[in-house]
Amino acid sequence: TNDCTLFSINGSTIGNFTHYRFYDFRDVYADDAAADSSSDDAIPQSRTIRDNTWMDQWSRRDQLKEAWNDNIIDMEYNARNIYIENSTEDSGDYSTFLTLYTTRLADGSQQAGEFDYVEANVTYLSLRLLARVSGSSGAVAGFFTYHNDTSETDIEVLTRDPTSAVHYSNQPTADDEDNIIAGATFNNSMPPGQPWDDWQVHRLDWLPGQSVWYVNGVQTGATRINVPDVAQMVILNMWSNGGSFAGRMEVGGEAYLNVQWLEMVYNTTDVETPGSDGDPTVCFIEE
Ligand SMILES: *[C@@H]1O[C@H](CO)[C@@H](O)[C@H](O)[C@H]1NC(C)=O
Ligand SMILES: *[C@@H]1O[C@H](CO)[C@@H](O)[C@H](O)[C@H]1NC(C)=O
Ligand SMILES: *[C@@H]1O[C@H](CO)[C@@H](O)[C@H](O)[C@H]1NC(C)=O
Ligand SMILES: *[C@@H]1O[C@H](CO)[C@@H](O)[C@H](O)[C@H]1NC(C)=O
Ligand SMILES: *[C@@H]1O[C@H](CO)[C@@H](O)[C@H](O)[C@H]1NC(C)=O
Ligand SMILES: *[C@@H]1O[C@H](CO)[C@@H](O)[C@H](O)[C@H]1NC(C)=O
Ligand SMILES: *[C@@H]1O[C@H](CO)[C@@H](O)[C@H](O)[C@H]1NC(C)=O
Repeated sequence: TNDCTLFSINGSTIGNFTHYRFYDFRDVYADDAAADSSSDDAIPQSRTIRDNTWMDQWSRRDQLKEAWNDNIIDMEYNARNIYIENSTEDSGDYSTFLTLYTTRLADGSQQAGEFDYVEANVTYLSLRLLARVSGSSGAVAGFFTYHNDTSETDIEVLTRDPTSAVHYSNQPTADDEDNIIAGATFNNSMPPGQPWDDWQVHRLDWLPGQSVWYVNGVQTGATRINVPDVAQMVILNMWSNGGSFAGRMEVGGEAYLNVQWLEMVYNTTDVETPGSDGDPTVCFIEE
C-alpha cells in the first residue's frame, strides 16, 4: 500500500480517504513482526504495525472518574487494564491479541480500560476491528469516535445483553427532557449465527451526513440523524459506571474485549494532505 495516495471502501457508503492504518495484534512477539512505519514527524499516509510500536500511536488512559450521582459508581481507567495477551487457544491464526479488561473491585468501584488514538483526529473514517467480548454482565465494550458528549458515533456491546444484540448510536441520543431521539440510537441484531462473544468484524463508517454499521461486511445499521460534523478522536474502551445503560457488575466480576486487529481509513484536518498533486493512486482496501 506504499504507493497509494487514496484508499477506497465499498458498501452503501463508498468513499475515498487519505490515510490507512492496520494494527495487527495477532503475532506481536514474532521475529518478523517489524513495523514498516516511518519515524517522520509528518503523518505517513499508510502504515501497518505488527509489533509493540502501536503504543506510540495509541494512548492507554489513566483517569479516575468519580461518581457524580448516586446511580453510578466510581470508575478508574488504568493503563494496566490494556495489554497484549498470549493466546492459549488452539488457533494457528493468532498467538497474541490485545485485551481491554474491566473488573468490579471489593470497594465497589470499577477498573476499566480506554485506548485513544493520538496520532490524529479524524474527519470521516471507516473503522473495522476483529473482536470478541466476554465476561460478567454489567460492562460495555465501545468502538467509537468522540468530540464531546453531543458529538460522537458509536458501536457498543453490552455484556448484559444477549450475544445477538448490538447498539449503534449517534450522540446526543436523548433530548433535553430525556426523551429518546428517533433514529439516533438503535438496539440492533448481529447477523444470525454471528454472536459478539465469538470473533466478528465490527465496522463503523462515519461519512458526511451518515453513519453506517456492518458486521462481517453485512450492513446492520444506518442513520442520517445526529451524524457528527466536526473532527473526532477514535476510541476503544471496556468500562462500566454501574449506571442504567451499562448495568452494574457483581463485585469480583470481570469482562474482556479482545482484538486481533484494527483497521482504519480516514481523513484528517491535522496535516496537509500528502501526494495530492497529480493523479491519485486509489487503492481498494476491501481485498
Ligand atoms: C466489499 O468488497 C469485498 C471484496 O470484494 C466483498 O467481499 C464484500 O462483500 C463487499 N462488501 C460490501 C458491503 O459491499
Ligand atoms: C475516488 O477517487 C477516484 C480518483 O480520483 C475517483 O475516480 C472516484 O470517483 C472517487 N470516489 C468517490 C466515492 O469519491
Ligand atoms: C477525503 O479527502 C480526499 C482528498 O481530499 C477527498 O477526495 C475525499 O472525498 C475525502 N473523503 C471524505 C469521506 O470526505
Ligand atoms: C508472552 O509471550 C512472550 C514471548 O513468547 C513473552 O516474552 C511474554 O512475557 C509473554 N507474556 C505474558 C504476559 O506471559
Ligand atoms: C484531538 O482532539 C482532542 C480533543 O479535542 C485534543 O485534546 C487532541 O489534542 C487532538 N489530537 C490531535 C492529534 O490533534
Ligand atoms: C460539542 O461540540 C459541538 C461542535 O463544536 C458544539 O456545537 C456543542 O455545543 C458541543 N457540545 C457540548 C455539550 O459541549
Ligand atoms: C436489546 O434487544 C435485545 C433483543 O430484543 C433485548 O434482549 C435486550 O434486552 C435489549 N437491550 C437493551 C439494553 O435494551
